[in-house]
Amino acid sequence: MKIEFQGLTKQYDQEHVVLKPMDFSDDIHTLAIIGPSGGGKSTLLRILGGLLLPTSGQVSVGGEELPTDERALQKYRQGLGFVFQQGGLFRHLSAMENITLPLEQVHGYTKQEAARRAEELLERFGLGADGRKKPSELSGGQQQRVAIARAVAARPRLLLLDEPTSALDPEYTNEVLDVIHELKNEGMDFVIVTHEMGFARHACEKVAFLCEGSLLEYGDSASLFVHPKTRQLERFLSRLLEWNVSE
Ligand SMILES: Nc1ncnc2c1ncn2[C@@H]1O[C@H](COP(=O)(O)OP(=O)(O)OP(=O)(O)O)[C@@H](O)[C@H]1O
Ligand SMILES: [Mg+2]
Repeated sequence: MKIEFQGLTKQYDQEHVVLKPMDFSDDIHTLAIIGPSGGGKSTLLRILGGLLLPTSGQVSVGGEELPTDERALQKYRQGLGFVFQQGGLFRHLSAMENITLPLEQVHGYTKQEAARRAEELLERFGLGADGRKKPSELSGGQQQRVAIARAVAARPRLLLLDEPTSALDPEYTNEVLDVIHELKNEGMDFVIVTHEMGFARHACEKVAFLCEGSLLEYGDSASLFVHPKTRQLERFLSRLLEWNVSE
């Protein structure tokens, strides 16, 4: 999936420049966006997803330019899948209905088609026995797997994930990362904002390091973690290692 932006900036108000002028162009399959808190990762992901408009600059995903009017934006967003930190599911619907409802109401599936697709995904993500449960009856990890199933159900051209595991107890993190990794093996392109450096390094082909609103480094994950070019990335990585007891 080709992702391009030129002169992209974002300001929420007059004083603070959240994204400084940014240029980017590459064909991406799996991209991790990493960096310190407040650096602009979620802002950039939301712009790519058409959930937020940039203050200036051009953005295109898969050759489709980010539109500016609401109706075209809606259509643009329909081609993408979104997963957020937590709480993205409809609380009053079952796991199954969380997946079938958007398929029927947004993507024009029949009831039967939607049910078939949802069953297939629940089964594949190890939730075959949980379709009737409401989110409150599922563990955090199960809820996030339902959220991912819902996001990929209509076969989006790109999946955008913003810290999908950061609200989870550690024991559930891996089961969610496994599901994302499996999607990669099936050829699903994604951009993930994550603090899971092991996943960024070993499961994502490319990594972007965003710091204080600037895209300071971008490259192959295999080399970026081993040979940071900037003092900021070096410091960011060494800060992470400081509390990493497994090393
Ligand atoms: N809706 C908003 N209105 C005003 N300022 C905002 C808004 N959303 C984010 N910001 C500011 O923009 C900056 C970047 O925020 P963003 O959420 O993109 O960072 P982040 O890299 O995702 O951080 P984190 O790792 O903590 O999630 C922060 O200084 C934040 O306070
Ligand atoms: Mg964020």
